[in-house]
Amino acid sequence: MISLAKPFFDEKEKEAVSRVLDSGWIMQGKQVSDFETSIAKQCGSKYCIAVTSGTAALHICFMALGIRQGDGIIIPSFAWPSAANIAHLLGAKPIFVDSKTSDYNLNVDLLENIIQQSKSEGIRVKAILPVHQFGAPCDISKVLEIATNYNLKVIEDSACALGTKINGRQAGTFGLAGIFSFHPRKIITTGEGGAIITDSTEFAEKCRALRNHGNLKSAGLNYRMTDIQAAIGLVQLSKLKTILSKRKYIIETYSEILDGQDSITLPEYLSNSEHSENFEIAIQTLMVLLDKEIDRDNIISGMAESRIETNIGSPAAHQLPLFAIPSDTCPAATVLQKQGLALPLYAAMTKEEARKVAETLMDLITPKIYQEPQTAELETCLVE
Ligand SMILES: Cc1ncc(COP(=O)(O)O)c(C=O)c1O
Repeated sequence: MISLAKPFFDEKEKEAVSRVLDSGWIMQGKQVSDFETSIAKQCGSKYCIAVTSGTAALHICFMALGIRQGDGIIIPSFAWPSAANIAHLLGAKPIFVDSKTSDYNLNVDLLENIIQQSKSEGIRVKAILPVHQFGAPCDISKVLEIATNYNLKVIEDSACALGTKINGRQAGTFGLAGIFSFHPRKIITTGEGGAIITDSTEFAEKCRALRNHGNLKSAGLNYRMTDIQAAIGLVQLSKLKTILSKRKYIIETYSEILDGQDSITLPEYLSNSEHSENFEIAIQTLMVLLDKEIDRDNIISGMAESRIETNIGSPAAHQLPLFAIPSDTCPAATVLQKQGLALPLYAAMTKEEARKVAETLMDLITPKIYQEPQTAELETCLVE
């Protein structure tokens, strides 16, 4: 079976875990603080706070911002709904913004209108949560410009984007804070896990307190990462360069076969080299867009019959029953949700496996061309 994702482990992770188990100290300790130091260094940020998941990181960030009932947070609809769920749980309103079908990132041209409209409805808009979707950098400079004009905080959801750089700077380091996920489908994994990065001493202190039951003045949570997870994370981080280059090789193999094919569209950063001049893009999920005539469920089951796991790319949060937005306010996100297909992508994948995936997909989507009957057959038909 070619699965969607597979962690890139070897003996080193096993040895690191064994050492922690043998030490008798498995809760948050030296491994976690070493992991935090390494992530901060890798990202070029002052502080890193390791937590139990990307969702926990978002929860802590929103609480540290003081998000509460009646506040609004601008969130792209086409993204994993963690941020929208957390906003909802805190009594705030997720205000959904549409994305672009070209790179699946939020459409910054819509931001100002949405902010103004939400304010006119009496919502206290507090923050923007740009997502670097699937690892591709969003237009963070425009987001920051608008956020400054409207006095909004920016928390970057860079859950998928460890290794993605914008003009040489790690995604997640532009706003007040950024978050990562270390779920097994992400660039590096700790089993489950997450982290917050920030340059703000005050924000980092709030996050640290919230991770560990709060302080005497405010309540907190237990979102502490264990030393077992951090030991895996440290080994994974030491392999980051290898992981990124192996994944890039697989993406190039996919592009060679799929770029320019009818009925399928690749994200523009794969087929347009100009787009990627100022970026290093660490793609976490390779999602392609199928033409609307194609039945994606049939493709997913056809691929499964060939022992290849594929899936939808992401839900569009504004379409989820929980948020039940009556009209389709984010039509591009709806298209991405309906027609996006995520392909297997992991560091240990071979070129042959990537070729098999791409060729099986093409076989399934290429319409069976009507064969003109040969003249002799035609004559027979006419006689009969
Ligand atoms: C963009 C984005 N944000 C947040 C998360 C949540 O991360 P976690 O699964 O570690 O809670 C994910 C996970 O898929 C994600 O893709």
